[in-house]
Amino acid sequence: MKKAMVVFGTRPEAIKMAPVVRELLSEDSTYRPVVVVTGQHRELLHQALEMLEIEPDIDLSLMKPNQSLAEFASTALSSLSDVIKSENPDLILVHGDTSTSFIGALAAYYNQVPVGHVEAGLRTDSIKSPWPEEGNRRLIGRLTKFHFAPTSRSAENLLKENIDQNTIFVTGNTVVDSLLWVKNKLDTSPTFKEEFATRHPYIEVDEEIVLVTNHRRENFGDGMRNVYNAVKRLAVEYPLKQFIFPMHLNPNARRPAEEILSESANVHLIAPLDYQDFVYMLATASLIITDSGGVQEEAPSFGTHVLVTRQSTERPEGIEAGVAVLVGTDEDEIVEQANKILKKTTKRSPIDGILNPYGDGTAARQIIRALNDHSHGN
Ligand code: UD1
Ligand code: UDP
Repeated sequence: MKKAMVVFGTRPEAIKMAPVVRELLSEDSTYRPVVVVTGQHRELLHQALEMLEIEPDIDLSLMKPNQSLAEFASTALSSLSDVIKSENPDLILVHGDTSTSFIGALAAYYNQVPVGHVEAGLRTDSIKSPWPEEGNRRLIGRLTKFHFAPTSRSAENLLKENIDQNTIFVTGNTVVDSLLWVKNKLDTSPTFKEEFATRHPYIEVDEEIVLVTNHRRENFGDGMRNVYNAVKRLAVEYPLKQFIFPMHLNPNARRPAEEILSESANVHLIAPLDYQDFVYMLATASLIITDSGGVQEEAPSFGTHVLVTRQSTERPEGIEAGVAVLVGTDEDEIVEQANKILKKTTKRSPIDGILNPYGDGTAARQIIRALNDHSHGN
């Protein structure tokens, strides 16, 4: 039996790699997983792992408050190299575009272990946005043997970079697998709504909800402050709507949110929600204002409108499906675009009848099938 080391470190990677780990544990997988977490995130990662019922085999616990990219990258590189030497895997799977993912791929390359890249081929046209993610994923692409592209568009991006077609597999995005797994859990729980109300007594799910999340590094400073000022204006304009804002634990994203929004009575600045509760909010909200990658991929499953507070997105499929609008970080533009959606109705009015362009819930299965078929001679 071959060994696949699955390396991740942040909340979104845990959510998107959990289905892959589950499939690697299935009987027909050629590989058995060893789950190594860098702990680039501490609380956010463990909150997601617990909800998804994944237990890491090795936790490097590398998070330090507000550490620089270089500091994290250098300690992660040597720690991951040590683990690779002791575990001697046949394959290393990394996800997406975080520092953990890039350093995981680099450590694999230095130790001559083949890399499988889950969520491969997402691109914007600027290496500065999103930063540093765009650089990370382009670099991972150069080191990868198996590229698992979520959509045909991401596969095309790889072909444009002269990646061998035979190494690219269009699988869908594993985020949809996780989303459906969690949605099924909450749909079938007779007590979920009651428990949610006990956990979050301030949220009136029958009233109109605007969900806000924000964390991108390239928006630190003025960009982020503009987004928060826009939310503040919207909260005044719509006093009967509730603005639910689970804040990222990064102090650079959190501090200005508290400065600008803590006096707004209908803005609830709250701790990060566990995945199940967040999915319930995604399904319940009238509008989401976010710079998150994962949230852009999840919202189409519920037809929930999204304003993407970024200059560019590597996820154009949601925009083409009519679910997302790219609004940047200009305060007036955010308010204007939000008004278009919120003024239409006092009730949630989702976009009906669209298929999620990011996947159908079988991505992890397709990844494991491709690995089984192509694992000879690794
Ligand atoms: C990271 C990823 C980003 C991804 C995001 C998902 C990089 C460079 N960035 O961004 O691509 O979209 O995660 O959320 O890899 N913190 C805590 N507890 C936590 C998590 C973070 O206290 O559980 C604080 C710490 O002070 C930490 C800081 O947030 O140093 C920044 O975390 P970091 O992982 O460096 O970057 P993010 O901005 O979260
Ligand atoms: N998420 C969550 N709780 C929250 C906010 C987000 O579980 O309070 C989930 C969300 O559903 C998505 C993922 O976290 O799957 C996105 O993480 P984040 O926005 O931090 O990172 P990105 O996707 O931008 O890399």
